[in-house]
Amino acid sequence: MSLTVLKLGGSVITDKDRPDTLDGEMLDSVTDAVGDAQIDDLVLVHGAGSFGHHHASEHGVSKTVGSSDVAAVIDIHGAMETLDQFVLSRLHERDVPAVPVHPFSVASRDSNAELSLPVQQISTMLGEGFVPVLYGDVVVHEGKGVTIVSGDELVTSVARQLDADRVGFCSTVPGVLDEDDAVIPEITSYESVADVLGESESTDVTGGMAGKVAALLELGAPASIFGPNDVTAFLDGENPGTKIDG
Ligand code: IPE
Repeated sequence: MSLTVLKLGGSVITDKDRPDTLDGEMLDSVTDAVGDAQIDDLVLVHGAGSFGHHHASEHGVSKTVGSSDVAAVIDIHGAMETLDQFVLSRLHERDVPAVPVHPFSVASRDSNAELSLPVQQISTMLGEGFVPVLYGDVVVHEGKGVTIVSGDELVTSVARQLDADRVGFCSTVPGVLDEDDAVIPEITSYESVADVLGESESTDVTGGMAGKVAALLELGAPASIFGPNDVTAFLDGENPGTKIDG
């Protein structure tokens, strides 16, 4: 059995210019690709796009700044559940046996911000033929109330714990770009791209490309970053966009 973890970026599946609005065409196109794929075990994770981020910033909640306000939890989590319902129903229309895993209900961070995400239920879901779907969410954080957990963190945690074979990130860009905006086909060390991406430490908290590449080099499974037109190629076993393999 080979496990693939695929993240659908929030800015791919939502209209980033309008709050709480889907990009219906794009969501159709990427869920078509998932529906057509011949794949053993698949875990999907989606981001927030225009559903989560503005609620999070209205309540002043980020990955590092918390809130103990119940209204913040309900607002942010509620918006993400709504988006998740849309994603699930488009997958069901394509006969994908997608089932939700709600990160807020199962995950937590300790006082060092270390994320704990149980995966036994995800592994059992896979064994029973389901496609678990997770999403960026609020997460209870010791000493801070709740903070944000990004889809990228969930991908990394699931991939590590379940020893994923392949990891894919469908984003709005076709890959990691060099100084001429050409896609870099493969990255095997940070030094080779430091000139283009800058220092990773400075951008880690913003979820920028530098932090993402640095994290993926440590993952222990090959990861690909590609655009929405390449989901089919990725699920077919190809390496579209940028392959990151430390
Ligand atoms: C953010 O998740 C989650 C919330 C703001 C609730 P992501 O960081 O994975 O979302 P995108 O993919 O950037 O939109």
